[in-house]
Amino acid sequence: WAIGVLFGGCSTEHDVSLSSAAAVLAHLDREKYELIPVGITRDGSWYRYYGDVGEIGKDRWRQHPGCVPATLSVNRTMKGLIELVGTEYRFTPLDAVFPVLHGRNGEDGTLQGLLELAGMPFVGCGTLSSAVCMDKEVSKMLVREAGIEVAPFWTLAAGESLDTALAKAEEFGYPVYVKPARSGSSIGITKAYGERELLQGIETALLHDGKAVIERHVDGVELGVAVLGGSQPETGEIDEIELAGEYFDLAEKYSLATAAIHLPARIPPETAEAARRIALRIYRVLGCAGFARVDLFLARDGRLLFNEVNTIPGFTAKSRYPSMMREAGISFPKLLDRLIEAAVR
Ligand code: DAL
Ligand code: MG
Repeated sequence: WAIGVLFGGCSTEHDVSLSSAAAVLAHLDREKYELIPVGITRDGSWYRYYGDVGEIGKDRWRQHPGCVPATLSVNRTMKGLIELVGTEYRFTPLDAVFPVLHGRNGEDGTLQGLLELAGMPFVGCGTLSSAVCMDKEVSKMLVREAGIEVAPFWTLAAGESLDTALAKAEEFGYPVYVKPARSGSSIGITKAYGERELLQGIETALLHDGKAVIERHVDGVELGVAVLGGSQPETGEIDEIELAGEYFDLAEKYSLATAAIHLPARIPPETAEAARRIALRIYRVLGCAGFARVDLFLARDGRLLFNEVNTIPGFTAKSRYPSMMREAGISFPKLLDRLIEAAVR
């Protein structure tokens, strides 16, 4: 099978994608797959990449002389990549695409819409599910509607009065989190201890998105549940994030200087069972396919609450999702096989 692996992207999580894609490309079985790496720059230019995989993780792929401008064909009778080589167009057929992209323009349904239009099989959630999971307001509303507990939240769109938001935060009790409705890797998030920080946090969040979500802080720990799709979706081992600092921000996520990830989570079997059940229900309610990492809060009093779903979770060999699946007996290469087989079928 010829597999297009998309990386980079027009997103604040561009660098995270480079690390994920470098790992995916390094672990895909080259005897089974013909790999067609396609890099997308921060401003949205697409290139077929002929260079070394190692250069991707170091963010030096674009400098490679073998980068060829490319675009996806949306013609269903010509499924593949169109490359501009010198003055000639070359067509490379593809059997499936693995979008190893995080955040906007990759994980949010826009790219999935393009792939669906092109009739191209691809790994992961479809258009609607990707768009819904990217949006913290919409996903919370749907999950709450399904009867799953969600921490109280309030959404403020750019230009709306701040008075209600301030009153809501007062009602929730500080600290509160302020997040861009559609972002990832904790970019643009503030933990606000008072009104002044809240106002700053709203301003920061609105730099990233047209709406900000203000959430009540849940006193407890965060759990991650890896879900692998199929006719009967299954879960990996559950992990737990133990924070020493304020919250799991971008630097912490990739350095783990003060935070620790416990795998398996230090929770009783009945809690783990409940977390799996809730995660599978959320996966189903939000229409996920292929895979997703469902993030929950476990409050000190034992309640499980929904936090968010990552439809293309971080995917380096050390990232949470692949580690949770490995712990459940599915190695990284095997996991990649499963994802691709599910996409092509
Ligand atoms: N958004 C990052 C990549 C994650 O959830 O793993
Ligand atoms: Mg996320």
